[in-house]
Amino acid sequence: MSPLRPAELIERKRNGERLADEEIAGLILGYARGEIPDYQLAAFCMAVYFRGLDAGETFALTDAMIRSGTTLRLGEALGRRVVDKHSTGGVGDKTSIAVGPIVAACGVPVGKMSGRGLGHTGGTLDKLEAIPGFDVSLSTDAFVAQIREVGLAIVGQTEDLVPADKQLYGLRDVTATVDIVPLIASSIMSKKIAGGADAIVLDVKVGDGAFMKTLEDARILAEAMLELGRRAGKEVVCLLTDMDQPLGGAVGNALEIAEARDTVRGEGPPDFTELVLDACARMLALSDLGVDLEEGRRRAEAAVADGSALDVYERWIRAQGGDPDPAALPAAPVVLDVRAPRAGTVTRLGAIRIGLAALHLGAGRRAKGDEIDHAVGVVCRAKRGAAVAEGDVLAEVHARTDAAAGEAAAEVLAAFELGDAAPREHPILLDVVA
Ligand code: URA
Repeated sequence: MSPLRPAELIERKRNGERLADEEIAGLILGYARGEIPDYQLAAFCMAVYFRGLDAGETFALTDAMIRSGTTLRLGEALGRRVVDKHSTGGVGDKTSIAVGPIVAACGVPVGKMSGRGLGHTGGTLDKLEAIPGFDVSLSTDAFVAQIREVGLAIVGQTEDLVPADKQLYGLRDVTATVDIVPLIASSIMSKKIAGGADAIVLDVKVGDGAFMKTLEDARILAEAMLELGRRAGKEVVCLLTDMDQPLGGAVGNALEIAEARDTVRGEGPPDFTELVLDACARMLALSDLGVDLEEGRRRAEAAVADGSALDVYERWIRAQGGDPDPAALPAAPVVLDVRAPRAGTVTRLGAIRIGLAALHLGAGRRAKGDEIDHAVGVVCRAKRGAAVAEGDVLAEVHARTDAAAGEAAAEVLAAFELGDAAPREHPILLDVVA
């Protein structure tokens, strides 16, 4: 084989040419081995930004990313069909923390590898670390053993699972090349496939607080991920869900854990509960239980109603060293109500503004390695469509100091638009692509 010349491949992609599978693999694996420098991969990503990758190239990229590290054979280890879920992320997204116990209570094992977040609030791992004692770094053997015993484990992604994605994501983050459909699709799907999933429920967020601002763009990303699943022999269902307003009420790590637990026991906010139950039903329908969507939904609802989901939640948190009692969660010293300045209907509740208020309170990271304050955040008490009287509580700000609370309260208030007419009906589940 002729030696790989990265500059030529970059030039050809820049000129809109298609690259062969082995050329893409050479670039990615060479980069992962440290043989190709950051600046060449950055230029390649920018060429992809303008010229795109076709479905075959995107699959070659995904496959190379998977081959950059080890893969987990979770299905073989458990002797079960493995169903995973993934969300593209948004403000107040604690879905996995509620879905995991419900699905496990229905008899389908769940083993998830999750990430940390840069941005408004932490990722799933950061949220879980708000629970005193919770350990996200289990060995692979302990991970598998816990899934067998408890039915559920959520851990950090191991260093050797798709290492090329870690490197490439870090590079994309600082070279304005994150929001590119084939790169997002291959990044997400490589991790799900390498993690051993046989079937995957994807939740692509749409709106102000998401990567994908429009339903059309979200559909394009969903189709790209579905195609990667097809080529890899995985069953994939993609939900397109609303991220124009925060998901549920809580935004902030400990606050979101409390809300996820409330949802597992049937006391969650309506939009979040609906999304959780729908995702559970779809996971059950893709599992080896042999049930359809309707029966999956019925079983998920039953697991919430009879307390078995809460029981799994508590056993799971204890198994990973945490205290499942909500009273053990860290609480912010200052809680300030944000009140409606006039009567009206909430016509808009900007997700990004609420997310930024939580970030400024300390709930998220501005830069890699920043410390997170698990206790702080925002709880939205009124959501889009709610009718409020003057002085009603729109939201609570949970802060470290009075000054921080005052600043965040102004930001939170600016996220609410009050009007006189009810807004257009806008369900949480916007579409399903399968
Ligand atoms: N999430 C990922 O895991 N990768 C991306 O590229 C974007 C979102």
